Parts: sequence; structure tokens; C-alpha cells
Amino acid sequence: MAGQGIHIEGLSKRYGSGDTAVLALKDVNMHVAPGEVVGLIGPSGSGKSTLLKCLGAVIDPTTGRMTLGDEVIFDGGWKVRDLRALRRDKIGFVFQAPYLIPFLDVTDNVALLPMLAGMSNGQARERAMALLTALDVRHRAQAMPAQLSGGEQQRVAIARGLVNRPPVILADEPTAPLDSERALAVVRILDEMARQYQTAIIVVTHDEKIIPTFKRIYHIRDGVTHEEAGEGRRF
Ligand SMILES: Nc1ncnc2c1ncn2[C@@H]1O[C@H](COP(=O)(O)OP(=O)(O)OP(=O)(O)O)[C@@H](O)[C@H]1O
Ligand SMILES: [Mg+2]
Repeated sequence: MAGQGIHIEGLSKRYGSGDTAVLALKDVNMHVAPGEVVGLIGPSGSGKSTLLKCLGAVIDPTTGRMTLGDEVIFDGGWKVRDLRALRRDKIGFVFQAPYLIPFLDVTDNVALLPMLAGMSNGQARERAMALLTALDVRHRAQAMPAQLSGGEQQRVAIARGLVNRPPVILADEPTAPLDSERALAVVRILDEMARQYQTAIIVVTHDEKIIPTFKRIYHIRDGVTHEEAGEGRRF
């Protein structure tokens, strides 16, 4: 997709109402260029997952504006009629918990999304295999999710988030269960994806192993974002 990546302006999110309301996001401003990977860092409860869920159209923001590519998706209300199609076609999610489908083997867990998008089974499996190889889990391609270690499950979930080459990838703690070498391999793959397919990627993380690799970082505290330069260390 040609476009301008992700733009978020003045985003807020209130959970609930009245005395029990929680203002999880107060004033979020972010932009991520196509081809860029940015880090999103902040203490527990600062609103990181809430922000990814708003951007991923999983929950409704309260106020603000969000643009994906050249499409305004939210401006005080949703501007897209079919939010399911938006999630399916434009956004790749990598969640904190892997959520693999327990009765499909590893290959089919990854190949399912491109098959649903209309790709032939053979092509979808081939694409899945390429990612499983890059993520060092190809040898587990025929295993069922329950037979995998936590780190292996996480790498399969990452392959699934990337397989449709969406223009936007939202990753919530993608490297938490991984050792240093594999965590850096995940960052390398995200970076390659971003550059090759002009994907805009946001990575929520506490992981000290990968934080130095970001060129730009957003800090979020009490629902307010601040941008700063990262080290941009090579990996
Ligand atoms: N469904 C909900 N209903 C009410 N409050 C919620 C809901 N989900 C999150 N919150 C509150 O919103 C705030 C932000 O939560 P969020 O999950 O976005 O934090 P986070 O930065 O992802 O934290 P962590 O690092 O622990 O994952 C917290 O105060 C949380 O308790
Ligand atoms: Mg969270």
C-alpha cells in the first residue's frame, strides 16, 4: 500500500463512565512512517495495550483522529464501515499471549490467514514456511501448538502476524519470552518486513534486549505520549 503509515492525533480513551471511569489515554500523538519500526515504552497501566487496541479497531477510542495510509479511519468516531475488513486487510497483530488455534498444526496456524484472503493452499503454506524458517521454528512445522515451548509459540504467533504482509503491524511485547539471540532475530525480521513491504510497525516492549535497536521511541505515561530519539543500534 502506498501511503503515509500511521498518524494519531489527540487520541483519548475512557473506559466506563461515572465514578468508576478510567481515562486510560489522555493525549496520544504518534506518527510512524511506512518502512519504520518504532518502540512504545511505558510503565504498567500507562495505556500501551489500550493504544494498540484502539489503533487495531478492537476497542472504540473516545476522541481524536487516526489515519492509516491515506485513509482517515477514526475522527471522533469510526470512518470505516467494515471494521472486521480493516482488521483483516490492514493490520497484523502480535499479542502478548500467542492465541494459536489449538487444533491446527503450526503451518496451518500461519497459512490460515492468507488462505482466508484467497491465496491458494500451496502458496499460503509456502509463504508460511518461509517465515517459519526465518523465525527458526521450521523444524516444528508439523507440531500442534500444545507441543511447543512458550518461545516457539510466540515465534509462530509472530509469523502469523506478518504472513499477510499488512501495511500496519502492532506488536505487544513480542519478544518477552525469547532469549537474546531470538529476540534480536525477531527485531531483524520486523525491520526487514518494514523496509521490504513499507510496513509501519509499533512494538510495545519492556525488553532491554531490543530497546536499543529502535531509532525512535514513544514514551507513554498516564496516557500521554512523548517522542524521543533511540539509539538505533544495529543488530
Ligand atoms: N477493559 C477495561 N476496563 C477498565 N479499565 C481498563 C480496561 N482495560 C484497561 N484498563 C485500565 O486502563 C489503564 C491502561 O491499561 P493498559 O492495559 O492499556 O496498560 P499497559 O500500558 O498495556 O500495561 P501493561 O504494561 O501492564 O500491559 C489501566 O489503568 C487499566 O487498569
Ligand atoms: Mg499491556
